[in-house]
Amino acid sequence: MSRTAASLHILITGASRGIGRACAEAFAVAGHRVTALARTAAQLATLKHTYGDCIEPLVADLTQELTLKVTYDVVVLNAAYYAPGGLLDERDVYTDSFALNVLANHRLARQLLPGMRARGSGHLVVIGSTATDRTSPHMTAYAATKKALRALYEGWEQELADTGVLTTLIAPGATLTSSWDGETLPPRMLATTEVAALVYRAVAEGLTGRIVLRAD
Ligand SMILES: NC(=O)c1ccc[n+]([C@@H]2O[C@H](COP(=O)([O-])OP(=O)(O)OC[C@H]3O[C@@H](n4cnc5c(N)ncnc54)[C@H](OP(=O)(O)O)[C@@H]3O)[C@@H](O)[C@H]2O)c1
Repeated sequence: MSRTAASLHILITGASRGIGRACAEAFAVAGHRVTALARTAAQLATLKHTYGDCIEPLVADLTQELTLKVTYDVVVLNAAYYAPGGLLDERDVYTDSFALNVLANHRLARQLLPGMRARGSGHLVVIGSTATDRTSPHMTAYAATKKALRALYEGWEQELADTGVLTTLIAPGATLTSSWDGETLPPRMLATTEVAALVYRAVAEGLTGRIVLRAD
C-alpha cells in the first residue's frame, strides 16, 4: 500500500509562495492536511480559500521564538532567505540569511524531531540547493548558509538512522520564484511544480538521502 494512502499531517515552512506553496498544493490536492507556515497571512488565506480543510494557515516569523506542540507526520523545512550578496558587497546579507536558513531550521529540528523519534515514524524533508555543489560570487552568503544547513541535515540523518524517522535532502537547481526578482535569469530553470512533485514522491515512496534536481 502507498505510504500516502492514509491522510498525513504535514508542516511546510515558507508555504505562502514559491516552492513551499507548490508543495502545499501538491499535498493538499492529494487530500493531506497541511499546516502552511509563513509570515504573510493574506497569501496563506488564498491557499486556505482554494483547498479548504486541507490547509491550516500558521502565520509566524521563524526568526522569532516559536513553540509548536504538534508531532507532524511530515516536516518540510523549506523557508529560506535569498538575496544576492558577496562577501565584499556593501549590503551584508549574511546575518539575515543565517538567521532563517540555519538557526531557524536548527531550532525547528530541535523542537520537532524528538516527538517523531519517540513515535518511531515520520519523515523530515529539508530543501537544500545545488549551490552547495557549485556557487557563484554573488551567492557567497546564501551558499554558505545552505552548506551549513546541509551539514545540519547530515547530522540529523545520522542521529535519526534506525529510529523509523526518514530523512531526505532535496537539492534543486535554479527554480523560477520571486526570489529571483531583479536578477538575470539563467537560461534553464525548474518550475516550482517540478520540485514539489519530487518532494511529494519522496514522501509517498519513502525516498531518502540527498536527491539533486538540476535545471540544466
Ligand atoms: N528558487 C530557487 O532558485 C531555489 C534553488 C534551489 C533551492 N531553493 C530553495 O528552495 C526553498 C524555497 O525557495 P523559494 O525560491 O521558493 O523561496 P521564496 O519564493 O523566496 O519563498 C520563501 C518562502 O519563505 C517564507 N519566509 C521567508 N522568511 C520567513 C520567515 N522569517 N519566517 C517564516 N517564513 C518565511 C516566505 O513567506 P513570507 O514572506 O510570507 O514569510 C515564502 O513563503 C529555499 O530553501 C531555497 O533555498 C530555491
